[in-house]
Amino acid sequence: MKPIPLILDCDPGHDDALAIILAAKNPALKLIGITTVSGNGGIAKVTLNARRIATLVNLHVPIAEGAGKSILGEVEEATDIHGESALDGAELPEPKVELSKLHAVDLMAELLRDSNEKVTIVATGPLTNVALFLKMYPALKEKVNEIVFMGGSATRGNRTPFAEFNIWMDPEAADVVLRSGLPLTMCGLDVTHQALVTKEIFAKLESMGTSVSKTIIGLLKFFAKTYDEVFEMPDPPLHDPVAVALLIDRSVVKCRKVNVQVELTGTLTRGATVVDLHDRFGARANCEVALELDFKRFWELMLDAIAQSAITK
Ligand code: BDR
Ligand code: CA
Repeated sequence: MKPIPLILDCDPGHDDALAIILAAKNPALKLIGITTVSGNGGIAKVTLNARRIATLVNLHVPIAEGAGKSILGEVEEATDIHGESALDGAELPEPKVELSKLHAVDLMAELLRDSNEKVTIVATGPLTNVALFLKMYPALKEKVNEIVFMGGSATRGNRTPFAEFNIWMDPEAADVVLRSGLPLTMCGLDVTHQALVTKEIFAKLESMGTSVSKTIIGLLKFFAKTYDEVFEMPDPPLHDPVAVALLIDRSVVKCRKVNVQVELTGTLTRGATVVDLHDRFGARANCEVALELDFKRFWELMLDAIAQSAITK
């Protein structure tokens, strides 16, 4: 099978870092570019983190910096979860990977234009860059194979009681994506809260004993601590790699195709994804929603990617 060409738009972030590693190291995928968006940290921080992770795992693909604020001009950081650097918990190498001179949205356009096959976009941060790309380059929509995004929830949120962080950060951008008419898959909290970094997973990482696995343990221990403090979840959910894993093996998640819209105006519910599981609106089913995770298969893929990245000490 030919590897699937994909662009990863992300805001690293602990789980984004592991999404980069999975996208880079599984042979079923061909990662052709990384673009960054502000979210877990300001744009300069998350771009630096993306370049550091690429350096850690010896990955050489174009990396471009994108939107520093939401479409409405809002900025926020998730220091309570990801720390001051947006990727606290381990020493990371200084970046040896160049930063593209292009804006993320223009790099997306260039990569799609130059590709002789359709390209998949995976978004693991706020959807600002993806929405801007769709608005600025409408003719390139036909080169998008599908968009898979981590964000939203069919039930409750994490940034507010009803809004998940990535959607909360830029609901207008999420709205553009959900109305795009492109094939969409949403990996929301329903499924990512099943991708837990359990004690058994930590033990498997420990047994790898490589420099990369040691760095990842440091990052995930920090993530586990903040998740426990903020959400009383001692085993933290590794959200973002789920959106990558399902491209490698569709059986990793079970989805339902339903209508999904985003709440833009609610005073208490802005940024909530309204997932019509029982077709109460009778509206067009615009999005596959991942609801169930094959935990064992997910971790097989993730641990294998980490092992592939490793330079044994
Ligand atoms: C999402 O928000 C960020 O903190 C994570 O990186 C993930 O993309 C989870 O709500
Ligand atoms: Ca993220």
